[in-house]
Amino acid sequence: MKPVTVKDNIYWVGAVDWDVRDFHGYSTNRGTTYNAFLIIDEKVTLVDTVKRSLKDDFLSRIKEIIDPEKIDYIVVNHVEMDHSGSLAEMVELIKPEKVICSKMGHRALLQHFHHDDWPYLVVKSGEEISLGQRTLSFLETRMLHWPDSMFTYVKEDRLLFSSDAFGQHLATSERFDDQVDQAILLEELTKYYANILTLYSPNVKKLLAQVEEMGLPIDMIAPDHGVIWRTNPAMAITAYGKWCNNRGDGNALIIYDTMWHSTETMAKAIATGLQDEGISYKLLNLRYNHRSDVMREVLNASALILGSPTLNNGLLPRMAGFLMYMRGLRPTNKIGAAFGSYGWSGESVKLLNEAMTEMKLDIIDEGFRVKYVPEAKDLSRCVDLGKKIGQALKEKK
Ligand code: FEO
Repeated sequence: MKPVTVKDNIYWVGAVDWDVRDFHGYSTNRGTTYNAFLIIDEKVTLVDTVKRSLKDDFLSRIKEIIDPEKIDYIVVNHVEMDHSGSLAEMVELIKPEKVICSKMGHRALLQHFHHDDWPYLVVKSGEEISLGQRTLSFLETRMLHWPDSMFTYVKEDRLLFSSDAFGQHLATSERFDDQVDQAILLEELTKYYANILTLYSPNVKKLLAQVEEMGLPIDMIAPDHGVIWRTNPAMAITAYGKWCNNRGDGNALIIYDTMWHSTETMAKAIATGLQDEGISYKLLNLRYNHRSDVMREVLNASALILGSPTLNNGLLPRMAGFLMYMRGLRPTNKIGAAFGSYGWSGESVKLLNEAMTEMKLDIIDEGFRVKYVPEAKDLSRCVDLGKKIGQALKEKK
């Protein structure tokens, strides 16, 4: 793939990773991109680099525009290796005049690459540097999602390089939001926020308020993953505004695993109760739904109903793993309830309730367990649980 013009004399020179399918536990079924940008000005500037394994692709794109040794500045918006993996080799090749990063970025770069001899320029929020025709302005975005993260804004082009924020794991031959299927784009934007940023929603909220207060005109948002928002950046900003405020859509998820179908039968009866109350729901069997896809659904849900049989005094392993993952991401403002079958010891419902209490979910029913195989009266109780959750969701609206 050739470089792609983003604005006059600003080019996408990143790399498309068609093959990656796992990002530390997040399934990337559509691959991803590592976006990097080249600004041709009096001071030629490279914004971010790419994963080390794709360095040759990246370099060949840069070479189509300019001799890499003519690059003056490298901006490091984020130190995570998918964006800095080829940085050391690029610094070696380019011998830049400045490596521009945040204070926390400087610390992280030293801890990653152990080079105190690089020509660092540490910038703070609000600081600007001139490239000649253009001005770069920096905004530290700590914990979005690493301590070192920052945004770089090109004033004259009203272009925001937003690092991981507003990204999507989406490998495609297209580079812009208006060139791809909008449903897929929203799905991947949602999944990205759910699995990377849910935990940092309070920081997202503060950042959006800060950007609004600064009155930055934004024509285009260029994240480090996926397509560039040139036509509809408002779609990404509006979605982040909703998610950072933990506003669910009023729907319920029944997330479960099952051993001999008893817990599954209970799940379906709970769904009937939700349906009776007119509530939209999804049944998500963890055997068939990857944890990161389930988290995408959790982001927009208003109730989480968790089911697991008891196995060896605990939960089924897929549910235990999912809970560990979800607890780390800390979704909030949701109703919770638990259910499950058991044979003799029957701890699963208690464990599910403990996990939901720790996550500060609003547990509106103590939940219940059924020995071995549910009979009609048990299933009727499941339907009632579904109705109770449905009514609570309607009251919450
Ligand atoms: Fe895409 Fe946090 O790296």
